[in-house]
Amino acid sequence: MGPGRRPASVAVTYRPPRPAELGDCALVWYSAVDGYMARLNRPLPSPYLDPLVALLQHLLATDPERFLVAARSPAAHGGRDEIIGFGIAVQREHVWFLSQLYVLPHEQGKGIGRALLTQILPSAPAAAGEAREAAGGDAAGDHAPGVLAMCTDSAQPVSNGLYARFGIVPRIPIFNLVGTPHPSTLSRLPAGIEAVPFGRHDPTATIASIDRAVLGYAHEVDHAFLRASGRTGFVYRSEDGEPVGYGYSSEAGRFGPIALLDENLTAPVVGHLMNAIRPRGATTAWAPGSNDRAMVALLRAGLRIEGFPALLCWTRPFGHFEGYLPASLALL
Ligand SMILES: CC(C)(COP(=O)(O)OP(=O)(O)OC[C@H]1O[C@@H](n2cnc3c(N)ncnc32)[C@H](O)[C@@H]1OP(=O)(O)O)[C@@H](O)C(=O)NCCC(=O)NCCS
Repeated sequence: MGPGRRPASVAVTYRPPRPAELGDCALVWYSAVDGYMARLNRPLPSPYLDPLVALLQHLLATDPERFLVAARSPAAHGGRDEIIGFGIAVQREHVWFLSQLYVLPHEQGKGIGRALLTQILPSAPAAAGEAREAAGGDAAGDHAPGVLAMCTDSAQPVSNGLYARFGIVPRIPIFNLVGTPHPSTLSRLPAGIEAVPFGRHDPTATIASIDRAVLGYAHEVDHAFLRASGRTGFVYRSEDGEPVGYGYSSEAGRFGPIALLDENLTAPVVGHLMNAIRPRGATTAWAPGSNDRAMVALLRAGLRIEGFPALLCWTRPFGHFEGYLPASLALL
């Protein structure tokens, strides 16, 4: 073995997951995040993994070629592969977004996360990233054909360091806001702005055009998944019928995504969604720091910042996050 080779990588294979292994991936997620949060004195509550498994099923259906597991070979484990890590990215138009990358705590620091990442990166930008890295890493991403992006935890130097070496550098904080909202503190929708429930018209084309203008890419497959997972949405229209944005919330308390062409509508739209859909328990939202209007509205409605902020990372800018509030960190 030459210098710099990692012995643990030898026995690990990288391959697409079998559908029955998505539960194993969810457990890897739980162990990895719990191990990391426990070190920060913030251990996770006991796992409720069904929503994550549903998300992984969706991503396996939309991006099968970008979903890999790291497995220990059957010979060493009585015939059944042990899933020790996984990575999944989505390609939406020109934006490649890393949804998840997790490695079991006792397998971390052996090159497995990096191996998963390099195998699911798009080949041309990955090669460009490697070349830049070998050359000492000049201004990253400028010549890449697409955009690479992801969300990381601000308190996690490993992931921030790993991704930034490919030019996927933390750019803006995203705050988790949680609580029981009191939307009466927010202004109402201005006269002339109508909230049209998605059920009344097929919103597909409208949402795609709003997404391209605000988020930078359309992703109807993910909207369909969000609706199937219990999120309810509205298109907001001006007096002349022109769409000015859309927003979602859910009875489970998952708030967003919201995309607005007119940022002045942020507080009234946040208030409208909070009034229209009353969750059974707490509301949780992810607000980019650049969307100052959403931060202010959510805080004024009584939500409070939970934990450390996450960081939105990219090689090149792609969206207008002053007007966007993502669905989650795993799927913008
Ligand atoms: C993040 C994670 C997926 C990385 O996987 P891993 O197998 O531990 O990572 P690897 O051993 O392949 O590589 C880690 C890289 O981080 C780099 N790194 C570690 N600490 C660093 C620091 N302080 N600054 C910069 N880079 C650092 C290492 O140098 C290494 O890069 P290299 O291979 O080029 O030397 C894994 O540690 C994990 O699951 N952590 C807990 C959960 C988590 O935080 N997930 C990411 C959420 S954003």
